[in-house]
Amino acid sequence: MAKALGARAASTTADDALSVHGGKDFALEYWIGGIICDARIAEFFGRAAEIQAQGGADTIGGGKTCPSFSPCPSIALRGNSSAEKRCYMIRDAGPADAAMIAEIYNDAALNTTAIWNTTQVDADNRAAWLETRQQNGFPVLVFEDAGQVLAYASFGTFRPFDGFDLSVEHSIYAHPSARGRGIGTVLLQALIARAQKMGMHQMVAAISADNPGSIRLHERLGFTQTGQMPEIGRKFGRWLDLVLLQKQLDTRPAPPAN
Ligand SMILES: CC(C)(COP(=O)(O)OP(=O)(O)OC[C@H]1O[C@@H](n2cnc3c(N)ncnc32)[C@H](O)[C@@H]1OP(=O)(O)O)[C@@H](O)C(=O)NCCC(=O)NCCS
Repeated sequence: MAKALGARAASTTADDALSVHGGKDFALEYWIGGIICDARIAEFFGRAAEIQAQGGADTIGGGKTCPSFSPCPSIALRGNSSAEKRCYMIRDAGPADAAMIAEIYNDAALNTTAIWNTTQVDADNRAAWLETRQQNGFPVLVFEDAGQVLAYASFGTFRPFDGFDLSVEHSIYAHPSARGRGIGTVLLQALIARAQKMGMHQMVAAISADNPGSIRLHERLGFTQTGQMPEIGRKFGRWLDLVLLQKQLDTRPAPPAN
Protein backbone atom coordinates (compact mmCIF):
# COMPACT_ATOMS: atom_id res chain seq x y z
CA MET A 1 0.00 0.00 0.00
CA ALA A 2 1.22 3.49 -0.77
CA LYS A 3 2.88 5.40 2.01
CA ALA A 4 1.46 8.67 3.27
CA LEU A 5 3.39 10.76 0.82
CA GLY A 6 2.66 14.07 2.50
CA ALA A 7 4.04 12.84 5.81
CA ARG A 8 7.36 11.86 4.28
CA ALA A 9 7.68 14.78 1.95
CA ALA A 10 10.20 16.75 3.96
CA SER A 11 12.75 13.96 4.13
CA THR A 12 12.41 12.18 0.80
CA THR A 13 13.83 13.04 -2.59
CA ALA A 14 12.08 13.61 -5.87
CA ASP A 15 13.52 10.36 -7.23
CA ASP A 16 12.19 8.39 -4.26
CA ALA A 17 8.81 9.92 -4.73
CA LEU A 18 8.77 9.21 -8.43
CA SER A 19 9.67 5.59 -7.89
CA VAL A 20 7.00 5.20 -5.22
CA HIS A 21 4.34 6.81 -7.33
CA GLY A 22 5.11 5.46 -10.72
CA GLY A 23 6.72 7.96 -13.02
CA LYS A 24 7.39 11.53 -13.91
CA ASP A 25 3.98 12.29 -15.31
CA PHE A 26 2.19 11.23 -12.19
CA ALA A 27 0.03 14.17 -11.15
CA LEU A 28 -0.95 14.75 -7.58
CA GLU A 29 -3.63 16.98 -6.30
CA TYR A 30 -3.02 18.73 -3.05
CA TRP A 31 -5.86 20.01 -1.01
CA ILE A 32 -4.50 23.14 0.54
CA GLY A 33 -6.53 25.68 2.43
CA GLY A 34 -9.60 24.97 0.35
CA ILE A 35 -7.90 25.13 -3.05
CA ILE A 36 -6.78 22.21 -5.14
CA CYS A 37 -3.29 22.68 -6.50
CA ASP A 38 -1.90 20.47 -9.18
CA ALA A 39 1.76 19.76 -9.03
CA ARG A 40 4.02 17.44 -10.87
CA ILE A 41 5.55 15.48 -8.11
CA ALA A 42 9.10 16.39 -9.03
CA GLU A 43 8.24 20.06 -8.87
CA PHE A 44 6.63 19.50 -5.54
CA PHE A 45 9.58 17.80 -3.93
CA GLY A 46 12.10 20.00 -5.59
CA ARG A 47 10.48 23.21 -4.45
CA ALA A 48 8.67 22.43 -1.23
CA ALA A 49 11.41 23.67 1.10
CA GLU A 50 11.99 26.81 -0.95
CA ILE A 51 8.30 27.64 -1.03
CA GLN A 52 7.93 27.06 2.68
CA ALA A 53 10.91 29.30 3.38
CA GLN A 54 9.19 32.05 1.41
CA GLY A 55 6.27 31.82 3.79
CA GLY A 56 3.92 29.80 1.66
CA ALA A 57 2.27 31.64 -1.19
CA ASP A 58 3.21 30.31 -4.58
CA THR A 59 1.88 29.03 -7.84
CA ILE A 60 2.31 25.37 -8.58
CA GLY A 61 1.77 23.35 -11.73
CA GLY A 62 -1.33 24.38 -13.66
CA GLY A 63 -1.04 28.00 -12.61
CA LYS A 64 -3.29 27.86 -9.57
CA THR A 65 -2.35 29.83 -6.52
CA CYS A 66 -1.80 27.96 -3.29
CA PRO A 67 -2.25 30.33 -0.37
CA SER A 68 -0.34 28.27 2.15
CA PHE A 69 1.67 25.64 0.40
CA SER A 70 2.75 22.83 2.67
CA PRO A 71 4.39 19.50 1.94
CA CYS A 72 1.98 18.01 4.41
CA PRO A 73 -1.43 19.46 3.54
CA SER A 74 -3.91 18.98 6.33
CA ILE A 75 -7.65 19.05 6.28
CA ALA A 76 -9.72 19.89 9.32
CA LEU A 77 -12.36 17.18 9.27
CA ARG A 78 -15.46 17.15 11.42
CA GLY A 79 -14.80 15.68 14.86
CA ASN A 80 -11.10 16.55 14.84
CA SER A 81 -9.89 19.17 17.27
CA SER A 82 -7.21 21.49 15.90
CA ALA A 83 -4.65 19.52 17.93
CA GLU A 84 -5.68 16.44 15.97
CA LYS A 85 -5.43 18.14 12.58
CA ARG A 86 -3.79 15.52 10.41
CA CYS A 87 -1.98 15.26 7.15
CA TYR A 88 -4.38 13.95 4.52
CA MET A 89 -4.04 13.57 0.83
CA ILE A 90 -6.31 13.40 -2.18
CA ARG A 91 -4.52 11.86 -5.13
CA ASP A 92 -5.01 9.81 -8.26
CA ALA A 93 -5.40 6.11 -7.56
CA GLY A 94 -2.80 3.60 -8.67
CA PRO A 95 -2.88 -0.19 -9.01
CA ALA A 96 -1.73 -0.59 -5.38
CA ASP A 97 -5.03 0.96 -4.26
CA ALA A 98 -7.17 -1.71 -5.95
CA ALA A 99 -7.53 -3.89 -2.84
CA MET A 100 -8.80 -1.02 -0.67
CA ILE A 101 -11.07 0.19 -3.44
CA ALA A 102 -12.48 -3.36 -3.67
CA GLU A 103 -13.07 -3.46 0.09
CA ILE A 104 -14.92 -0.13 0.05
CA TYR A 105 -16.93 -1.13 -3.04
CA ASN A 106 -17.87 -4.51 -1.57
CA ASP A 107 -19.25 -2.96 1.59
CA ALA A 108 -21.38 -0.54 -0.43
CA ALA A 109 -22.61 -3.35 -2.69
CA LEU A 110 -23.44 -5.68 0.19
CA ASN A 111 -24.92 -3.26 2.71
CA THR A 112 -26.23 -0.15 0.94
CA THR A 113 -28.34 0.94 -2.00
CA ALA A 114 -25.48 3.08 -3.31
CA ILE A 115 -24.70 0.25 -5.76
CA TRP A 116 -27.62 -1.74 -7.20
CA ASN A 117 -25.56 -4.89 -7.22
CA THR A 118 -24.52 -7.35 -4.57
CA THR A 119 -21.78 -9.06 -6.58
CA GLN A 120 -18.47 -8.87 -4.71
CA VAL A 121 -15.30 -7.94 -6.53
CA ASP A 122 -11.62 -8.59 -5.88
CA ALA A 123 -8.52 -6.43 -6.26
CA ASP A 124 -7.87 -7.68 -9.82
CA ASN A 125 -11.36 -6.66 -10.85
CA ARG A 126 -10.89 -3.14 -9.46
CA ALA A 127 -7.39 -2.88 -10.94
CA ALA A 128 -8.87 -3.64 -14.37
CA TRP A 129 -11.67 -1.12 -13.78
CA LEU A 130 -9.13 1.50 -12.71
CA GLU A 131 -6.96 0.87 -15.75
CA THR A 132 -9.92 1.19 -18.11
CA ARG A 133 -11.08 4.42 -16.44
CA GLN A 134 -7.63 5.95 -16.66
CA GLN A 135 -7.05 4.76 -20.23
CA ASN A 136 -10.28 6.52 -21.18
CA GLY A 137 -8.95 9.71 -19.61
CA PHE A 138 -11.17 9.63 -16.53
CA PRO A 139 -9.92 10.11 -12.96
CA VAL A 140 -10.17 7.85 -9.95
CA LEU A 141 -9.30 9.88 -6.85
CA VAL A 142 -8.60 8.44 -3.43
CA PHE A 143 -8.57 10.05 -0.03
CA GLU A 144 -5.61 8.73 1.91
CA ASP A 145 -4.73 9.08 5.57
CA ALA A 146 -1.38 7.72 6.73
CA GLY A 147 -1.17 5.17 3.94
CA GLN A 148 -4.79 4.06 4.28
CA VAL A 149 -7.24 4.70 1.49
CA LEU A 150 -10.48 5.72 3.23
CA ALA A 151 -12.60 6.75 0.25
CA TYR A 152 -12.57 6.94 -3.52
CA ALA A 153 -14.47 8.81 -6.19
CA SER A 154 -14.54 8.68 -9.95
CA PHE A 155 -16.43 9.79 -13.01
CA GLY A 156 -16.92 8.35 -16.43
CA THR A 157 -19.12 8.55 -19.49
CA PHE A 158 -22.69 9.65 -18.78
CA ARG A 159 -24.15 8.17 -21.98
CA PRO A 160 -21.99 6.62 -24.70
CA PHE A 161 -22.90 8.99 -27.54
CA ASP A 162 -20.77 11.85 -28.84
CA GLY A 163 -23.29 14.49 -27.88
CA PHE A 164 -22.90 13.65 -24.18
CA ASP A 165 -19.14 13.93 -24.16
CA LEU A 166 -19.06 17.04 -21.97
CA SER A 167 -21.22 15.42 -19.30
CA VAL A 168 -19.93 12.87 -16.82
CA GLU A 169 -21.55 10.66 -14.22
CA HIS A 170 -19.69 10.15 -10.97
CA SER A 171 -19.72 7.95 -7.92
CA ILE A 172 -18.20 8.29 -4.46
CA TYR A 173 -17.75 5.82 -1.64
CA ALA A 174 -16.20 6.06 1.80
CA HIS A 175 -15.13 3.18 4.01
CA PRO A 176 -17.85 2.55 6.61
CA SER A 177 -15.42 3.41 9.41
CA ALA A 178 -14.68 6.80 7.82
CA ARG A 179 -18.14 8.15 7.03
CA GLY A 180 -19.64 11.29 8.48
CA ARG A 181 -16.30 13.08 9.05
CA GLY A 182 -16.32 15.34 6.02
CA ILE A 183 -14.18 13.10 3.82
CA GLY A 184 -16.91 12.70 1.20
CA THR A 185 -17.28 16.46 1.05
CA VAL A 186 -13.62 17.24 0.34
CA LEU A 187 -13.24 14.31 -2.04
CA LEU A 188 -16.27 15.34 -4.06
CA GLN A 189 -15.00 18.92 -4.17
CA ALA A 190 -11.72 17.59 -5.58
CA LEU A 191 -13.58 15.53 -8.18
CA ILE A 192 -15.65 18.55 -9.23
CA ALA A 193 -12.44 20.58 -9.61
CA ARG A 194 -10.98 17.83 -11.81
CA ALA A 195 -14.07 17.75 -14.03
CA GLN A 196 -13.88 21.53 -14.41
CA LYS A 197 -10.22 21.32 -15.29
CA MET A 198 -11.03 18.74 -17.96
CA GLY A 199 -13.53 21.13 -19.51
CA MET A 200 -16.63 19.17 -18.61
CA HIS A 201 -19.93 21.04 -18.62
CA GLN A 202 -22.20 18.91 -16.44
CA MET A 203 -21.68 16.40 -13.67
CA VAL A 204 -24.47 13.93 -12.97
CA ALA A 205 -25.16 11.93 -9.82
CA ALA A 206 -27.71 9.12 -9.90
CA ILE A 207 -28.58 8.47 -6.26
CA SER A 208 -31.00 6.07 -4.65
CA ALA A 209 -33.85 8.11 -3.15
CA ASP A 210 -33.35 6.30 0.15
CA ASN A 211 -29.86 7.79 0.54
CA PRO A 212 -30.57 11.23 2.05
CA GLY A 213 -26.97 11.63 3.31
CA SER A 214 -25.59 11.46 -0.23
CA ILE A 215 -28.37 13.65 -1.67
CA ARG A 216 -27.65 16.28 1.01
CA LEU A 217 -23.92 16.07 0.37
CA HIS A 218 -24.49 16.74 -3.33
CA GLU A 219 -26.98 19.55 -2.78
CA ARG A 220 -24.59 21.26 -0.41
CA LEU A 221 -21.98 21.23 -3.16
CA GLY A 222 -24.29 22.83 -5.70
CA PHE A 223 -26.02 19.88 -7.34
CA THR A 224 -29.73 20.30 -8.02
CA GLN A 225 -32.34 17.61 -8.48
CA THR A 226 -33.32 17.39 -12.14
CA GLY A 227 -34.98 14.00 -12.34
CA GLN A 228 -36.84 11.37 -10.39
CA MET A 229 -37.40 7.83 -11.61
CA PRO A 230 -39.85 5.97 -9.40
CA GLU A 231 -39.38 2.22 -8.86
CA ILE A 232 -36.72 2.03 -11.57
CA GLY A 233 -34.72 -0.64 -9.78
CA ARG A 234 -34.77 -3.14 -6.94
CA LYS A 235 -32.61 -4.35 -4.11
CA PHE A 236 -33.14 -6.04 -0.75
CA GLY A 237 -36.67 -7.03 -1.87
CA ARG A 238 -37.75 -3.40 -2.37
CA TRP A 239 -38.42 -1.19 -5.37
CA LEU A 240 -35.92 1.63 -5.54
CA ASP A 241 -36.42 5.17 -6.80
CA LEU A 242 -33.56 6.99 -8.48
CA VAL A 243 -32.91 10.70 -8.03
CA LEU A 244 -30.84 12.45 -10.69
CA LEU A 245 -28.86 15.49 -9.61
CA GLN A 246 -26.61 17.59 -11.78
CA LYS A 247 -24.15 20.41 -11.39
CA GLN A 248 -23.22 22.80 -14.18
CA LEU A 249 -19.47 23.29 -14.17
CA ASP A 250 -18.98 26.29 -16.41
CA THR A 251 -20.92 29.12 -18.03
CA ARG A 252 -20.01 28.65 -21.67
CA PRO A 253 -22.94 30.10 -23.62
CA ALA A 254 -22.48 27.54 -26.41
CA PRO A 255 -20.55 24.27 -26.69
CA PRO A 256 -17.60 23.86 -29.02
CA ALA A 257 -18.55 22.59 -32.46
CA ASN A 258 -18.43 18.81 -32.81
C1 LIG B 1 -22.14 9.23 0.81
C2 LIG B 1 -20.73 9.24 1.37
C3 LIG B 1 -19.74 9.10 0.23
C4 LIG B 1 -20.53 10.59 2.01
O1 LIG B 1 -19.23 10.61 2.53
P1 LIG B 1 -19.03 11.09 4.04
O2 LIG B 1 -17.58 11.24 4.27
O3 LIG B 1 -19.79 10.20 4.92
O4 LIG B 1 -19.72 12.52 3.92
P2 LIG B 1 -19.56 13.78 4.81
O5 LIG B 1 -19.05 13.41 6.17
O6 LIG B 1 -18.75 14.75 4.03
O7 LIG B 1 -21.05 14.27 4.99
C5 LIG B 1 -22.00 14.19 3.99
C6 LIG B 1 -23.37 13.89 4.57
O8 LIG B 1 -23.41 12.53 4.98
C7 LIG B 1 -24.22 12.39 6.16
N1 LIG B 1 -23.63 11.54 7.18
C8 LIG B 1 -23.16 11.92 8.36
N2 LIG B 1 -22.72 10.88 9.06
C9 LIG B 1 -22.89 9.82 8.30
C10 LIG B 1 -22.61 8.46 8.48
N3 LIG B 1 -22.07 7.96 9.59
N4 LIG B 1 -22.90 7.64 7.47
C11 LIG B 1 -23.44 8.10 6.33
N5 LIG B 1 -23.73 9.38 6.13
C12 LIG B 1 -23.46 10.25 7.10
C13 LIG B 1 -24.41 13.72 6.72
O9 LIG B 1 -25.80 13.92 6.72
C14 LIG B 1 -23.67 14.68 5.83
O10 LIG B 1 -24.46 15.75 5.49
P3 LIG B 1 -24.65 16.94 6.57
O11 LIG B 1 -23.28 17.26 7.09
O12 LIG B 1 -25.26 18.03 5.77
O13 LIG B 1 -25.55 16.41 7.62
C15 LIG B 1 -20.49 8.13 2.40
O14 LIG B 1 -21.33 8.33 3.50
C16 LIG B 1 -20.65 6.75 1.84
O15 LIG B 1 -19.73 6.19 1.29
N6 LIG B 1 -21.86 6.18 1.98
C17 LIG B 1 -22.12 4.86 1.44
C18 LIG B 1 -22.00 4.82 -0.08
C19 LIG B 1 -22.83 5.90 -0.73
O16 LIG B 1 -23.96 6.16 -0.34
N7 LIG B 1 -22.24 6.52 -1.76
C20 LIG B 1 -22.89 7.55 -2.52
C21 LIG B 1 -23.57 6.93 -3.68
S1 LIG B 1 -24.35 8.18 -4.67
